[in-house]
Amino acid sequence: MRLIRVKDYAAMSDEAFAIVYERMSANPKLTLGLATGSTPVGLYERLVSAVQTGKLSFREARSFNLDEYVGLAPDHPQSYAYFMREHLFDHIDLPAGRWDIPSGIAPDLDEECARYEAAIEAAGGIDLQILGIGPNGHIGFNEPGTPLESRTHVVELTESTRRANARFFERPEEVPTHAITMGLGTILRAREIILLASGESKAEAMAKLLSLSDFDPELPASALHRHPEVWVIADEAALSRVR
Ligand code: F6R
Repeated sequence: MRLIRVKDYAAMSDEAFAIVYERMSANPKLTLGLATGSTPVGLYERLVSAVQTGKLSFREARSFNLDEYVGLAPDHPQSYAYFMREHLFDHIDLPAGRWDIPSGIAPDLDEECARYEAAIEAAGGIDLQILGIGPNGHIGFNEPGTPLESRTHVVELTESTRRANARFFERPEEVPTHAITMGLGTILRAREIILLASGESKAEAMAKLLSLSDFDPELPASALHRHPEVWVIADEAALSRVR
């Protein structure tokens, strides 16, 4: 795990963009794993601007998102499919059909999980996975206690995660109770991983992550200690409790 310390959110987004830009320039057929939430928005803005100024193309790329809420259709404004269209897909040249997000409204959610894993396999696996981290150390929606080998599965969200995500909903009780997420095992199969962390709310999780040297099920992000190619890009506030 290599740590890149940066000043703030903008610098974190710049560093992440530099890596993604380099990998996509070297391999235009790159398969990306993408995250939603506040953390990668700055990276997505930079990618949109690179595409719109002709510096980068997603025509041959592919992407798979980490997760989706159960019960929200792709046109629901709080769904992750909607978020991705709003922040990235509607503004770049990634063809429809080359991005995939688990369906939270599939009639058989277990079948949907199996379909998603098979689709990632069929695409040749994920080359570069982007991750944020939850205040409780989750990655994707893998909450504390998730097994290391887990693949795409349905999870019940913890109260901590529902509270952290309530800011995106009109009322806290509207936050769905379940989600589909890539498992820790799915994430670890990516060839390279970038974990982004910005802000004081991530400081506790980051301090724990950096104090560990191996997987501790109480901090799902610590699974990344089992992966050989991980970049952690974190700002001063997110690293403020590292001892
Ligand atoms: C989102 C995801 C989550 C977030 C995490 C941090 O697809 O998988 O693990 O990355 O909850 O969220 P933000 O970035 O909103 O602080």
